[in-house]
Amino acid sequence: MQLIDGKKISLQLQETIAKEVEQMVASGAKKPHLAAILVGNDGGSETYVASKIKACERVGFNSTLIRLPDNVTEENLLKAVHDLNNNHDVDGFIVQLPLPRHINEHNIIEAVKPSKDVDGFHPINVGRMVLNLPCYVSATPYGIVHLLSAYKIETSGKHCVVIGRSHIVGSPMSILLAKNTALGNCTVTLCHSKTKDLSSHTLKADIIICALGIPEFLKADMVKEGAVVIDVGTTRVVSAESKTGFKLKGDVKFDVVAPKCSYITPVPGGVGPMTIASLIQNTLLAAKKEIYK
Ligand code: GUN
Repeated sequence: MQLIDGKKISLQLQETIAKEVEQMVASGAKKPHLAAILVGNDGGSETYVASKIKACERVGFNSTLIRLPDNVTEENLLKAVHDLNNNHDVDGFIVQLPLPRHINEHNIIEAVKPSKDVDGFHPINVGRMVLNLPCYVSATPYGIVHLLSAYKIETSGKHCVVIGRSHIVGSPMSILLAKNTALGNCTVTLCHSKTKDLSSHTLKADIIICALGIPEFLKADMVKEGAVVIDVGTTRVVSAESKTGFKLKGDVKFDVVAPKCSYITPVPGGVGPMTIASLIQNTLLAAKKEIYK
């Protein structure tokens, strides 16, 4: 079994980006600039946004954090989005999800200018991804594909089971892996809460991407010997052992599943850091106007 070190690969990618930014700035370009809107003070979102801002510092980007209260109106949140759309200094921005229940997430996502949508959540970017057109690919699936590539894990002709059909991970992941590309060409089965006899699918999988958000859901008897297991789960659970009082739990019962795998990602230190590296990569593309001229 080989552990996939997402933290290491993420830092390598960020180092490469930092060198490119240094050269860009030396030749007179402005620093790339990522902005983030954070609504409320959900602990998980605070942590993720803080990691994104820290990554900006690491690679030499400018960053701006816009905090709005939990009870912000949809209208005022839309105004903050429009301000960033029109701010020429900001290359790309994200609105951290989830949003409070009184706000319609789709209205917010659709308000982001596609050329600044470095999360790749806007319907235009999702549609362009499906059609193999230049676009921002949503950060977590993009990060996973990068990890598979970094570890030279063959995807062509393999059977991949994706568990979970969220807009941000499961659905785009299933589409990316099924494409006729160097990092695709899998036969993909997309499983979800209504799938009958889930184990009958996972037991046939060469690659399992577990993205349903239920801690330790995937057990050893659901995985075939030699499978590649990618754990996207990051549920915060109370823990007396941790300084923060919380720890992250993946969707995979790691201790029992890992011995059966050829490769497996840990939580934390697997997919999470790659999501951040992908966001940084998308922001660099935005600053260079490589996707939208
Ligand atoms: N919430 C969980 N993952 C993400 C992400 O990749 N982007 C944003 N904006 N919110 C998230």
